[in-house]
Amino acid sequence: HRRQKVLVVANRLPTKPKRDADGNWTFERCSGGLVSCLAGIRAKFDMVWLGWPGADFNDVEKDIVANEAMKQGCYPVFLRQNLIDEYYNGFANNVLWPLFHYIMPPFDKGVNECSTGQWEAYRKANEIFTEAILSVYEDDDYVWIHDYHLMLVPKFLREAKPDCNIGWFLHTPFPSAEIYRTLPWRQEIIESLLHANLLGFHVYDYLRHFLSSCVQLTSLEISAHSVDATSIGGCIVTCATVPIGISPDEFLTGLQKPEVKQQIEQLHEQYAGRKVILGIDRLDYMKGIPHKLMSFGRFLENHPDWADKCVLVQLAVPSRRDVPEYQRLQRQVHELVGQISGKHSSIATGVPVIYMDSSMSPDDLSALYNVADVALITSLRDGMNLVSYEYIACQHGKTVPGVLILSEFAGAAQSLGAGSIRVNPWHLQDTAHAIYEALMMGSEEREALHDYAFKYVSEHTAQKWAETFLQCLQEACSDLMEVT
Ligand code: UDP
Ligand code: G6P
Repeated sequence: HRRQKVLVVANRLPTKPKRDADGNWTFERCSGGLVSCLAGIRAKFDMVWLGWPGADFNDVEKDIVANEAMKQGCYPVFLRQNLIDEYYNGFANNVLWPLFHYIMPPFDKGVNECSTGQWEAYRKANEIFTEAILSVYEDDDYVWIHDYHLMLVPKFLREAKPDCNIGWFLHTPFPSAEIYRTLPWRQEIIESLLHANLLGFHVYDYLRHFLSSCVQLTSLEISAHSVDATSIGGCIVTCATVPIGISPDEFLTGLQKPEVKQQIEQLHEQYAGRKVILGIDRLDYMKGIPHKLMSFGRFLENHPDWADKCVLVQLAVPSRRDVPEYQRLQRQVHELVGQISGKHSSIATGVPVIYMDSSMSPDDLSALYNVADVALITSLRDGMNLVSYEYIACQHGKTVPGVLILSEFAGAAQSLGAGSIRVNPWHLQDTAHAIYEALMMGSEEREALHDYAFKYVSEHTAQKWAETFLQCLQEACSDLMEVT
């Protein structure tokens, strides 16, 4: 009896192969919430991961990369550079990503003026992913498609395999129908999604927005949590809220490693006498990094006596560097860091902002999370935001835990809201005040907030998320599946 597999299909594989100057291959861990959570559950499920290996490779390299990837249970989907430009940099990250985060194209431009070729490329890339799935798919497997990059796969796959078990999970917000309806390709996308058996979202609002879009754009019958799409060749589609989580144990075990403990000690020494305010984000305009810097500047102006008593440590992990908007953002952020440092540094107090354009190893990240007195998350929109969960996990066990300041526009605000200081990141003064409040908060209140948040983070793990999603998928397909 063959065990049913779960085919996890995401745009990105968890590691990116790279060749060094001596011709040796190394594998670099990729950043971002999707990779973090899926990588965290891999050991627990019988799964094959299909995704793009992060670069264009020649034919000789492809064989090497494919062999290496297979050893790690991954199946690379190769895409040519021009397709990457149009599909990934273009349609996925310059059309869908901003729109799903409530950013409309410039008011004097129609989105389809510049994006028709990108849409064709998106379609093509989704076809290539579908072919890759079909080449490893065996009857009764479960196909779990991830995110906004692959929204046409459910239909292509259903057409090729009418009995296929198909689930799709969105890692970003699904925007209000008022926003979604502006997308010229709204119909094709929504109808394709309705060929899946299960559609999953982080929070109820995203699901509700999706259903409103269905009501407005289709004449299908829609009940509380399902859509009957059989008349368009789709399924009776179940829609579910399945909030993602992290694997807190991995962080807690990490914190016990001698090298991490040593790193924590070093950081304490380095920042002795100063409170550490921490920001960890991909360098993405949705993370509100400029807003965070400006709020921190405001805080220092309001409370000059804090200039030598705190430091903002901001890690901005490079992301999507070929998309012009991200390049602009980097320039803007560098300028702001310069302004704040220029204004608030002195020989006696040093610089108030330590800003890094880089990524960090999981161990270094855990150490930093652990020593930080405050975590400052100012996303303007964020599907969930796992950084907030990771901070809470790494504060566990401290005599006086740190305080999480969390944007109300992150999905995580719905789960960790009562365990944090919630802010509207657009209101700079409000955030500046929250920084002050967090720094001044007494130990009892800190503990109460942390206890609440830690309980949530440790109960709603990535593993639970995956189990729940797969169980819902199994029910939606009304079939049986073994999960190890
Ligand atoms: N992260 C990483 N490398 C780094 C810094 C962070 O891989 O140098 C991880 C971080 O641990 C977290 C993820 O990137 O798991 C970010 O996820 P989040 O949901 O906060 O935001 P996303 O990047 O998915 O928008
Ligand atoms: C977000 C998206 C993920 C993506 C991640 C990193 O979390 O939802 O699908 O993997 O950002 O972005 P990247 O473009 O580097 O994959």
